[in-house]
Amino acid sequence: MANVTFSSPKLAKDVTVYAIAGDRGTILSLAKAHKVPIPFDCQDGECGSCLVEVSHLSPTTKNAIALTEKEKELLKQLGKITKDEIYDAEVNDMPPRYRLACQCFVRHEDIVVTFQGDDTVP
Ligand code: FES
Repeated sequence: MANVTFSSPKLAKDVTVYAIAGDRGTILSLAKAHKVPIPFDCQDGECGSCLVEVSHLSPTTKNAIALTEKEKELLKQLGKITKDEIYDAEVNDMPPRYRLACQCFVRHEDIVVTFQGDDTVP
């Protein structure tokens, strides 16, 4: 139901994979299944290693993407979410720009996931 394109200096070229409806996996699990080297460590929303930037190809149909308290708190600590983005996420169901790949579930929409692939943040 959704094309997810991974883009990174670590990849020779962008990789687009098709996420199957009902799969309900996270961006990180999709990346791992397709051998896309998104860095990760805890896989539990605690460390921030898996920080990625998510672009929505069709902004008008941006789906509400659940932002857990845990993900929100860590993004805050990392300085990767603004007050406005928190408001938009909580009130308007608009997803913020940066996400934790281990916490962010793939939905029925086409997205581009950008990551650096080293210890620097995207
Ligand atoms: Fe630690 Fe995602 S792997 S926050």
